[in-house]
Amino acid sequence: MNNTSRREFIGMAGAGLVLARTGIAKAVPSERVHHAVIGGGGQGCAHVSNYDKFPDCDVVAVCDVDPKRREKMKQLAPNARVESNFRRILEDPTIDSVSIATPDHWHTPMALHALQAGKHVYVEKPCAHNVHECQILLKAAEHYGKCVQHGTQSRSSQGIIDAIAYLQSGALGKVRLAKAINHQMRGPIGRAPVTDPPPGVDYDMWSGPAPLHPFTTNRWHYNWHWFWDYGGGDMVNDGIHQVDIARWGLDVGLPNAVQGAGAQLYYDDDHETPDTQNITFVYDDCQLIYEMRLWTRYKLEGHDNGVVFYCDNGRLEIGREGCFAKIIGEKTQKVGGGQDLAANFHNFIEGVKANDPDHLLAPVREGAISSALCHYGNIVTRVGRGQTLVPGAWNFQNDDEANALLKRTYRKGYELPEI
Ligand SMILES: NC(=O)c1ccc[n+]([C@@H]2O[C@H](COP(=O)([O-])OP(=O)(O)OC[C@H]3O[C@@H](n4cnc5c(N)ncnc54)[C@H](O)[C@@H]3O)[C@@H](O)[C@H]2O)c1
Repeated sequence: MNNTSRREFIGMAGAGLVLARTGIAKAVPSERVHHAVIGGGGQGCAHVSNYDKFPDCDVVAVCDVDPKRREKMKQLAPNARVESNFRRILEDPTIDSVSIATPDHWHTPMALHALQAGKHVYVEKPCAHNVHECQILLKAAEHYGKCVQHGTQSRSSQGIIDAIAYLQSGALGKVRLAKAINHQMRGPIGRAPVTDPPPGVDYDMWSGPAPLHPFTTNRWHYNWHWFWDYGGGDMVNDGIHQVDIARWGLDVGLPNAVQGAGAQLYYDDDHETPDTQNITFVYDDCQLIYEMRLWTRYKLEGHDNGVVFYCDNGRLEIGREGCFAKIIGEKTQKVGGGQDLAANFHNFIEGVKANDPDHLLAPVREGAISSALCHYGNIVTRVGRGQTLVPGAWNFQNDDEANALLKRTYRKGYELPEI
């Protein structure tokens, strides 16, 4: 962003919304992007170190509600300003873009505030805590015209792009079914007692729009994934990567229907979310199956995390070792490589510099749909029955209990901002 546009922005004193609507920021792409990272867990730290290494990007600010995490982030980006409240970052007109690597319950609310403040946004997967937020974030990204990249990095990974191109070239014949595999051991988390939050931690801000539950170490760093108020279990955690690749290869959007079941067959602890899920997404002429077991030390069809496409003339497998095609009667051939997280980050920075959401390889347009699929799978699991979607819409036909789970309520003071 050049000095003129920065002066104009400052002159508007807190009027990020006006700026975004008038499109002043849009006209001026940056040569060197000033980026901030919010949330400094394992993934947020991967953001800090990767973004700060790019020659066309500086991590100028980092933010976390936990002082220990802030310290870690500062070590990775010694020149960055350190904040405990993300709002200070959004108020800073010199910051072009933000990464949101907090727990899921903050993703959409923070992304909406950031878009209103005129920032480009990289939002970790899933982009939203529920289906309603997927829709709202999608609308906001279109409304503000900013780059909103989703943390489903396979979409920017050349090896996987090559494999999907091979699949869609028809080399294996018609693709009729894809299986998204999430088959791994995730140990139990036990039962954690209520304690005070660690010293210096802003637990109220950590909870944000979610209910303010008494603090336990299980409702906290990383393990929040297993509580419905913050996350959505491993279907929206690891599973979303495989569901997104499967949907990409099948070239489908929202399904006609979602069927299946899930359960806790293994956990007997604080977990609220399932350890087992078998979900089928039904489309006009193909199916996408998600199979999850979190209690296995062995692989399913050769994969812990992977996708298998079943076609008339053979199959394509996308997994940790790369991408392999097997045509009936021929030798297996390698048709692609693995995931590249840095490529998704850098694709975002290129989009920000060009001020062009169309440059993004993992746009929220796709991320919102894959996030919604995973939330649908969880809803079917929770209500215990399959659902048919209203054609052309994101909600279910004739099931009030299931439709109620498409949304959540927000804690006072942390409601979603109006777009
Ligand atoms: N794309 C990928 O492959 C990938 C891999 C791992 C994690 N993730 C995603 O990244 C996100 C973070 O995961 P994680 O494993 O690092 O979790 P984590 O719980 O270890 O870290 C989250 C951090 O966010 C901070 N935080 C919470 N609320 C905040 C707020 N209001 N303001 C500032 N900081 C706040 C927490 O204090 C914590 O340090 C999740 O959404 C996860 O799904 C993506």
